[in-house]
Parts: sequence; C-alpha cells; structure tokens
Amino acid sequence: MQFPELRLRRLRKTPAIRDMVRETTLSVKDFIYPLFVVHGKNKREEIKSMPGIYRYSVDRVMEEVDEVYELGIPAVILFGIPAKKDEQGSSALDDNGEVQQTVRKIKKKYPDMVVITDVCLCEYTSHGHCGILTKNGYVDNDATLEVLAEEALSHARAGADIVAPSDMMDGRVFAIREKLDEHGYENVAILSYSVKYASAFYGPFRDAAESTPAFGDRRSYQMDPGNVKEALREATLDIEEGADMIMVKPALSYLDVISLLAEEFPYPLVAYNVSGEYSMVKSAGKLGWIDETRVMMEILLSIKRAGADLIITYHAKEAGKILSSK
Ligand code: PBG
Repeated sequence: MQFPELRLRRLRKTPAIRDMVRETTLSVKDFIYPLFVVHGKNKREEIKSMPGIYRYSVDRVMEEVDEVYELGIPAVILFGIPAKKDEQGSSALDDNGEVQQTVRKIKKKYPDMVVITDVCLCEYTSHGHCGILTKNGYVDNDATLEVLAEEALSHARAGADIVAPSDMMDGRVFAIREKLDEHGYENVAILSYSVKYASAFYGPFRDAAESTPAFGDRRSYQMDPGNVKEALREATLDIEEGADMIMVKPALSYLDVISLLAEEFPYPLVAYNVSGEYSMVKSAGKLGWIDETRVMMEILLSIKRAGADLIITYHAKEAGKILSSK
C-alpha cells in the first residue's frame, strides 16, 4: 500500500474551511476592561503612555462604562487614584472613595455587569508600595493583611461582585475571605492575582495609577521572572485559602505559565495583558512598523490558546468592535 501524500494544506484552503477547523476562538465575552477612576471632577485625561486609555473622574466614568456595556464586554476591573495618599494608604478604606462610588454607579445602571475591584495599597500609599512599611522600609506582610481585608470589605459593601487582590502578600486571600464571610458577603468572589511577576511591563500602568514606588522595587513581594514551580506554589496556596479564580500576570512573556496553570488547576484562569504589552503594540502601530489590528488580535488569541479563560486587556473595546463586526 502506498502511504497517502501528506496534504495538511487542504484544510487551509478557504476562509470557510479555516473557520470550521479553528481550534481557538476569541469572543467579546472573554474580555475584562480595566478602568482608572481619578479624584476630582469633570476629568477625562488620556494616559500619555497608553494611547486610547483615559482616567475618568467619578462624574464622567459612565461615559466609558456605557460604551463597554454596549459592546457586550461583560466585566470591568476598577483602579482608583485618590487625592490623598498617606503612609498607611488609608483612603483605600473610604466608603466614598473613587472605586466605591464607581461600583455603586455601575451596579445601579447595569446590575448585570460584572464589577471587579483591584484590591491593593500601592495607589493609596505615599511611598507607592503595596503594603504597610516597617521602620526599616520593608513591606510588613501581616500588618498589611488587615488593611487589605478592610479594603475588600469596603468594595463588597459598595456592591462589587468580585474582589481582586494584587498586592502579593502571603495569606491575603484567607484574610479577605474571612472578613467578607464575617460580614455576610459570602457570595462575593475572589479573583487572586496569584502569579504576579516583578515585571518591567507594568511601567505605563504606574504612570496611569501614580503608583511607582518612591524607593526600591517590588521584588521582595512579586515573583522572580525565572520561576515557574513557585507559580504552582502560589496558585495552590491561593486556592487553599479560598480563591475562586486565579490570575497570571503579565501574559505575553508568561504564556508557558498560563498553559501550566490551565492544566494543573480546574479553576477559571485569568491572564492580564498588561500596560507595557499594550503600549508596545500601540507605539509600533503608530510608527507603521506593524499592522496594529492584526497583531492585537493575534496576541489576544495566543493568550487564549495558551489556556486563559478570560483576559484583562486594554484592547478590549477595539477587539470587541472587530469581533462584533464579523
Ligand atoms: C497593583 C497593580 C499593578 C498592575 C495591576 N495592579 C501594578 C504593579 O504591580 O506595579 C499593573 C497592570 C498593568 O501594567 O497593566 N495594584
């Protein structure tokens, strides 16, 4: 018998055939859109290093939310930039903070929109670190837990569906779960930034959120980019502590980590396509060096193919428009 001639190309012949055998597809339902809410009034400020992304004051943020909702994007994740920062990050606990007010506004107008809040102190502390400092300038893990739990509680009280701790303190998922349950918020879910690397890709975000550390860096609490077994330990602990969903961040340089976690953990897996990843595409696109739209769609598809169920991305609106026009 003669071996049949290999012709893998048969299934690539026409767009219709290619569509039919495509293994990974993107949908607008995969996206979570980040929103920056800044103190003050009547503000819509473009973030210089993130073209197309704006910081809104609470009174104008619904302009953006309306658009996101119309596009069918199911969820947003909120970041607040308060007027007052102090050593303890106390404005994070203010029930009338930018994030809390925005949660209430969104849930009132769109009860079915999923509202996620980022739980961290770096936007609220004067030193820009993600927790309370000890006298010698170290982040004090255990002292930070109580503040994070209170912050999460304040978001839950405002109506958040999901709280997402991004600080990387040990034990914070448990501390938050306990606090929420104690106050009757057992139905508020926790999306843990389980595997968060100490990455240079967060640069533009720190401009947007004014959260660059005043001294040092975040390497004593965020993960070393060389490690992957540690990613398994982080995710295991978070799930044991009560996380409902886990996250890998950044996405692009860590597709192997996404793929490993997707295999190992039967939990919804979120990937954060971070600010630096967004800005690189935007700047190369502006220079005419790449086909920005195609590169964007290819990146998002690759994150999904690696195993992410959901993607937090600044591209969500643009990609959503493309997907709904098909
Ligand atoms: C911390 C936080 C950061 C990001 C999300 N949450 C910054 C950091 O850890 O320095 C980065 C997101 C991005 O780069 O898009 N609250």
